[in-house]
Amino acid sequence: MGFYFFLFVGWILLDIQVLELCEAGITSSYVRKTDLDIDMPLDSDVFRVPPGYNAPQQVHITQGDREGKGVIVSWITADEPGSSTVLYWAENSELIYHADGTVLTYKYYNYTSGFIHHCTIKGLEYDTKYYYEVGIGNTTRQFWFITPPKVGPDVPYTFGLIGDLGQTYDSNTTVTHYQMSPAKGQTVLYVGDLSYADNYPYHNNIRWDTWGRFIERSAAYQPWIWTAGNHELDFVPKIGEPKPFKPYTHRYFVPYRASDSTSPLWYSIRRASTHIIVMSSYSAFGKYTPQYKWFTSELPRVNRSETPWLIVLMHCPMYSSYETHYMEGETMRVMYEPWLVKYKVDVVFAGHVHAYERSERISNIKYDIVNGRCTPVNDESAPVYITIGDGGNLEGLATKMTQPQPKYSAYREASFGHGIFDVKNRTHAYFSWNRNQDGVAVEADSLWFHNRYWKSMEKPSVAVL
Ligand SMILES: *[C@@H]1O[C@H](CO)[C@@H](O)[C@H](O)[C@H]1NC(C)=O
Ligand SMILES: *[C@@H]1O[C@H](CO)[C@@H](O)[C@H](O)[C@H]1NC(C)=O
Ligand SMILES: *[C@@H]1O[C@H](CO)[C@@H](O)[C@H](O)[C@H]1NC(C)=O
Ligand SMILES: *[C@@H]1O[C@H](CO)[C@@H](O)[C@H](O)[C@H]1NC(C)=O
Ligand SMILES: *[C@@H]1O[C@H](CO)[C@@H](O)[C@H](O)[C@H]1NC(C)=O
Ligand SMILES: [Fe+2]
Repeated sequence: MGFYFFLFVGWILLDIQVLELCEAGITSSYVRKTDLDIDMPLDSDVFRVPPGYNAPQQVHITQGDREGKGVIVSWITADEPGSSTVLYWAENSELIYHADGTVLTYKYYNYTSGFIHHCTIKGLEYDTKYYYEVGIGNTTRQFWFITPPKVGPDVPYTFGLIGDLGQTYDSNTTVTHYQMSPAKGQTVLYVGDLSYADNYPYHNNIRWDTWGRFIERSAAYQPWIWTAGNHELDFVPKIGEPKPFKPYTHRYFVPYRASDSTSPLWYSIRRASTHIIVMSSYSAFGKYTPQYKWFTSELPRVNRSETPWLIVLMHCPMYSSYETHYMEGETMRVMYEPWLVKYKVDVVFAGHVHAYERSERISNIKYDIVNGRCTPVNDESAPVYITIGDGGNLEGLATKMTQPQPKYSAYREASFGHGIFDVKNRTHAYFSWNRNQDGVAVEADSLWFHNRYWKSMEKPSVAVL
């Protein structure tokens, strides 16, 4: 009797589990090629030093103000400090302007950096192509960028999503696919873990330089919006390097003061129809910390009439069903998820887990330590969480997933690739994910976003008298 009873219960449990499996999302059965993930050698074409005395190298740009009329131009010279001036001019214009920047160096263990230049250009016209020149006085190099349209609710704009890139052959494919994508990304939202130089003995910072040269072919022509990850920490007290984020903060400047932040590790920008908030998973974020205070005062400042799309970037995901880094984002989720839901954040992009995953709109904010309500539930006010840590670094893919796939996970796949977030107008945006093994135009996963704020503004279509 007891035996049959257990069989019976077992059968019910099995049945429920099958049911849950049916309701859950998709675990892709796609099997990628299993090449070794190795860094491209130092003499690779993508790492070549540009010719000429003191030629500017590792040229990259990012947004330089809160609204998109500013650009920070950064580059490195190897032989002497040289000039920190940027010459720039609008396409079809005779007028050449100049802006003066600063130069700095840093040491890391026995490594000494080149001369790192940062120059902020301000007061640009919106929606205009500018050419710019660096290396004034010695070998000069010319590049260009296009400023975004003026901030407004219906301004279309296309972002690329890249994370955990590193500098392997796979990383190179990811950048190539992004550049060749028919979606034509205009700005990269980078979700942290840049060079992976820290995987080398003494964090050999030469691999920060090779990475800078590698991404120049994109980052010199369009802004990459930076988020710090754990591989930016470079925290090694025993070799005399106790200051976290040293190489990263010297090389990658961001416009944090423009959003009243006190740290380059968390800040915000507005661009076209979006308000983008960058968080730091590896800085103090508990209640009363500078990051917490900034974040909670930033959210009420978001004007969804002007920037309907509210995007949050952070390195460590709050929702991930992979075994690697499982629940690492839990403390941050507990602190910040109620805020993301209250302010109807549209999407949270994260990296860290070397794979792709997209969540359902769910939240898990009702739990109070004794009431047992600790399972995520469907929530129309919640963001979609997208893990895009699949840039292709040398640590390889996170292939082990928790089983069965939890209900909150809509799609997951351990392949390298990149994402595109294509804002159409105030109500619609289209997200797609491209895996490196497919052609550049193939979407392995995609989702139409219906803006959270405008959706909540819509009146129910009943009882209209
Ligand atoms: C730095 O130290 C490491 C380990 O002692 C050594 O292999 C490397 O050649 C040194 N590099 C420089 C630039 O001195
Ligand atoms: C490089 O430019 C600086 C001025 O910025 C000048 O003083 C120096 O002589 C130049 N060096 C060479 C080798 O042209
Ligand atoms: C990286 O990709 C670019 C563009 O496809 C290609 O020209 C280059 O040869 C590649 N480099 C390596 C080392 O694979
Ligand atoms: C939000 O932006 C709209 C449109 O520019 C403006 O009318 C409104 O006053 C702003 N709201 C706040 C709270 O600043
Ligand atoms: C917004 O974009 C979507 C998708 O392209 C389109 O279907 C919709 O009509 C647009 N809305 C407006 C008001 O133009
Ligand atoms: Fe990471």
